[in-house]
Amino acid sequence: MNTTRLGVIVLNTLGVTGAIVTIYTAPEKLRVYIVIGLLLTLPIIIFFEVIFFFRTRPTQPAIPVGDVRVLRAGYVVRTATEHDIVWIANLEQKWFHQDAVPKDRLIEWHKANPNAFFVIEDKAGDKVGHMDILPIRPGTLNQFLDGQITEKEILGDCLYTPSEKGAVKALYVESLIIDVPNIHHRGLALHSLLLEFNRLISEVSDPNNIETLYAMAATSQGARIISEFGFSVVKNAKERPDHHDVYAVKFATLKENIAKL
Ligand SMILES: CC(C)(COP(=O)(O)OP(=O)(O)OC[C@H]1O[C@@H](n2cnc3c(N)ncnc32)[C@H](O)[C@@H]1OP(=O)(O)O)[C@@H](O)C(=O)NCCC(=O)NCCS
Repeated sequence: MNTTRLGVIVLNTLGVTGAIVTIYTAPEKLRVYIVIGLLLTLPIIIFFEVIFFFRTRPTQPAIPVGDVRVLRAGYVVRTATEHDIVWIANLEQKWFHQDAVPKDRLIEWHKANPNAFFVIEDKAGDKVGHMDILPIRPGTLNQFLDGQITEKEILGDCLYTPSEKGAVKALYVESLIIDVPNIHHRGLALHSLLLEFNRLISEVSDPNNIETLYAMAATSQGARIISEFGFSVVKNAKERPDHHDVYAVKFATLKENIAKL
């Protein structure tokens, strides 16, 4: 029994004792009024006392918020198939327009390294978003970062293959889209994806070897989320043919920021 309930019992006992003493010591006429008043109010008091006394309280420790969200959200992240690549191409077209990577280039990349493409599905198994994490070979990556070539000019053979994943030291987050209009559901899907981030990284590389991650902000939403996770501009949009800022973050910093979620 907790102290609050004990306090209620003591107060009730004192109250009842006080009422009995008052009734016995009151003049006879007043005593009748007191008894009638008590008979009228007592059922109401007893009703609320019973509710207070027997109401159930949670005794289990609360599940951490993140776990509840993922359980309720039910979003699943899986490696994309070639069939999904067509869907990804259409999604990029919808959000990035002229900046979208053409379907054939995405297929070429996917053939070179099928482990670099991920789709997010909702509870019903419908695709709601995707993320591509490209392991670009250093020579091409430097040309791209420097603004000498655009994303679309990166060829399939410029990506490390799955068997070369131990050699990957830097990754380029080519695209992240969560095509969910409801802000809360989008947040849940994004959260589910980020909770899996380390696993996704290990599909294309050995995470212990990764030093830096790069990303390009093709939209204002992209710029915002990239900045929130600690990325900073390494090549200004003005110096690039695609007119978009390129960002970088140390992998250790990104992991710390994701862990804070
Ligand atoms: C990147 C992304 C996953 C971030 O999710 P998020 O943090 O929940 O998005 P934000 O809160 O930054 O959204 C900013 C605005 O865009 C709108 N928006 C974002 N994603 C949306 C979506 N999938 N459908 C409809 N509206 C969307 C929001 O309503 C919000 O508008 P508001 O500020 O007027 O309310 C998400 O914005 C997205 O998928 N955007 C489309 C693709 C994109 O820009 N990718 C980044 C490429 S670098």
